[in-house]
Amino acid sequence: MFEILEKQNLAEGIWLMKIHAPRVARSAQPGQFVIVRTDETGERIPLTISDYDPEQGSVTIVTQALGVSTRKICALEAGDSLADFAGPLGRPSDFVAEPLDELRGKRILFVAGGVGTAPVYPQVKWLHEHGVEADVIIGAKNKDMLIYTDAMRAVASELYIATDDGSEGFRGLVTDLIKELIDKQGKRYDVCVAIGPMIMMKFVALTTKAYGLKTVVSLNALMVDGTGMCGACRVTVGGKTRFTCVDGPEFDAHEVDFDEAMRRQGMYRTQEQRAAAIEAERAAGHKCRIGLDK
Ligand code: NAD
Ligand code: FES
Repeated sequence: MFEILEKQNLAEGIWLMKIHAPRVARSAQPGQFVIVRTDETGERIPLTISDYDPEQGSVTIVTQALGVSTRKICALEAGDSLADFAGPLGRPSDFVAEPLDELRGKRILFVAGGVGTAPVYPQVKWLHEHGVEADVIIGAKNKDMLIYTDAMRAVASELYIATDDGSEGFRGLVTDLIKELIDKQGKRYDVCVAIGPMIMMKFVALTTKAYGLKTVVSLNALMVDGTGMCGACRVTVGGKTRFTCVDGPEFDAHEVDFDEAMRRQGMYRTQEQRAAAIEAERAAGHKCRIGLDK
């Protein structure tokens, strides 16, 4: 069992939980995810790691209460325990393996949208701890839905806020702010990392493509079982089929077929629809990939 050490409300329906999971905390890296189950019969929920502290033996997750299982997680309190907390899973962000002197010469822009701000934090924190500077844009519907602003300000080189209604920072979408920074403020970047709703990542990709700015997105939101078995997270990248949970979750944004990914995401909106879709995948002859070479 994995004890919830701390629970904090970040915004309406969005909860941060610090989980006692020393083995996961020791080996976690930015970009990776965990699979959570509240009880033995519970649905497997893949969640991107939002922070980790090997000394305390804790891993932070941020959950938005959207479906049956995420509401179950969010209803737990500090002192309660999760039945399963498996990880770290998925490939770490590519920059973790890059030589630091090369990385330090790069101008990096992170674009974080809504709940997707939480998984951006460990990436910017890791870079900060390794002497690499990165600018961050956080976008949200309004000032009440902004999360992680103080934590991000502490590790970002520059933090820019955009709200759809203008209640804090720049008024407009993150894509408008990217254009403002590049066209009007003369900012230049070598790489962009965007994490947030699929529609945001699609339009960030279109925007950065026009500038020839290499962009990486995290497609975690496509995942269902997170093991390479259900087939739900299939995505076409550069014309090839990829499994988000095994080959990702991060991919070259300019190669991702976002329209297909959004159609696929729509298929798995509720637990019941997910179960039906998995059965359909199996009936259509989807083969389990566990134990197979990529
Ligand atoms: P949201 O709808 O409030 O959007 C956040 C920001 O994204 C907006 O403020 C806006 O600046 C930008 N955006 C939205 N639509 C846009 C468009 N068409 N063009 C340009 N920019 C646009 O975000 P939310 O409600 O917090 O989103 C929740 C979603 O994020 C969930 O569906 C969840 O699946 C996804 N999510 C993804 C990840 C990931 O790893 N990719 C992690 C956590 C959450
Ligand atoms: Fe099921 Fe990737 S989430 S195969």
